[in-house]
Amino acid sequence: MRWKIAARPIGRELRIGDFERDSAPPELALREGAIRVQVLMLSCDPAQKGWMENVAGYAAPTEIGGVMPAGGVGRVLESRAAEFAPGDLVQGTLGWSDEMVVEASAMRRVRDEPDAPRLALGLLGSSGLTAYFGLARIGVPQPGDTLVVTGAGGGVGSIVGQIGKIAGCRVIGLAGGADKCRWLTDELGFDHAIDYKAENPKQRVRELAPGGIDVLWDNVGGQMLDDLLARIARKARVVICGGIARYQQGGRPPGPASYFNIVFKSARMEGFLLSDFADDHDIGRDRLRTWLAEKRIVQRDEVVDGLENAPQTLMRLFRGENRGKLLIRVAD
Ligand SMILES: NC(=O)c1ccc[n+]([C@@H]2O[C@H](COP(=O)([O-])OP(=O)(O)OC[C@H]3O[C@@H](n4cnc5c(N)ncnc54)[C@H](OP(=O)(O)O)[C@@H]3O)[C@@H](O)[C@H]2O)c1
Repeated sequence: MRWKIAARPIGRELRIGDFERDSAPPELALREGAIRVQVLMLSCDPAQKGWMENVAGYAAPTEIGGVMPAGGVGRVLESRAAEFAPGDLVQGTLGWSDEMVVEASAMRRVRDEPDAPRLALGLLGSSGLTAYFGLARIGVPQPGDTLVVTGAGGGVGSIVGQIGKIAGCRVIGLAGGADKCRWLTDELGFDHAIDYKAENPKQRVRELAPGGIDVLWDNVGGQMLDDLLARIARKARVVICGGIARYQQGGRPPGPASYFNIVFKSARMEGFLLSDFADDHDIGRDRLRTWLAEKRIVQRDEVVDGLENAPQTLMRLFRGENRGKLLIRVAD
C-alpha cells in the first residue's frame, strides 16, 4: 500500500483528506542504476508539510498524486546498481509506501546493527546531525554559557539540549505542557524547562538567566523568538533552525520587533540547512556515535506501528503530541 498527496495544505493545518490511500501493486520495472527497497522505518518531520506545499526550495518538487516523500530506511530487495546488493540496508528519501524504486546514487548504506533504522533516522540521522552542526558550527557553545532551546521536547531540540550539557552549558528548554517539561529536566538533564503554554517565557527567562542568553536555538519563530531576542546577552549567537509556529499559518508572520537587540548586544543571528554541512556528515555521525557509546547522550523517540497510521502520525508533530523523534515502523 502507499499514501499519495491529494492536496497542498498551503496556509492551513494538515488534514487527513490531504492524503489518498492507494493499494495498486508496486512498480515492477527496475531501470539501470535503480534499486527496489522494502521500506522498514520512516521519519516524521515538520518539513514534510512544506514539501507538500512545494515551498521548500531545497527539496525536490512534489506532485499531486505522487507518493508522499519521507526520509526512511529500507532493505534492498532487488538491485540494478553496482553499489548495492539485495539485503543491504539503505537510507535516503523514500516515501509512504511499503516498497519503493529509487536511484541507488541517492541512497547511503546504513551499518546493519541493532536498532539501525531508529538510530539512522534519529540521533545519527537528520535530527542528530542538525543538532550537532547547528550547535557546534553556528551556536559555538562555551562552558558556562546559557543555552536556551525552543521546541526543546522534539527530535532536534531534545538532542540540542543534551549536546549543550556536554559542552558545559546551562540549558533551559521551552516546551508545551508540564509533563513534557518535567521529562526534559528529569530524563534528559536540562537544567530548567519552561512550559510556554502556561508560563510567560520572557519573564521566566529573565528569572532563570539574569545574565541573558548566550546561545539561542530556535525551532519555533514567531512571538517566542521575539520574546527571547529581548533576552539575549552580549555577543549572543542566535541559531535559526526552524519556525514551526508559521508552518500552519497563511501569509508571513511580522518580523521580530526585538531584532534590533542584535545591534545593541553585538550579537549574531544565522540560519542554516543541514545540507550545508553535507561534506562533514560522517564527522558528526562519528562524534554522536561516540557520545552514545559513552552514555553521554540518549535517543528519545516514539515509534508508531503501521503505514496505515502515517497521516495521523505526521499531524501529531503540529499538535505537540511527540516526545523526542517521531517514527513510523512499516516493517520489521
Ligand atoms: N534547518 C534544518 O536543516 C532543519 C533540519 C531538521 C529540522 N528542522 C526544523 O527543526 C524544528 C524541529 O524539528 P523536529 O523534527 O525536531 O520536530 P519536533 O520538534 O519533533 O516536532 C515539532 C514540535 O514543535 C512544537 N510545536 C508545534 N507547533 C508549535 C507552535 N505553533 N508553537 C510552538 N511549538 C510548536 C511541538 O512541541 P511542543 O509540545 O513544545 O509545542 C512539537 O512537538 C522544525 O522547525 C524543523 O522544521 C530544521
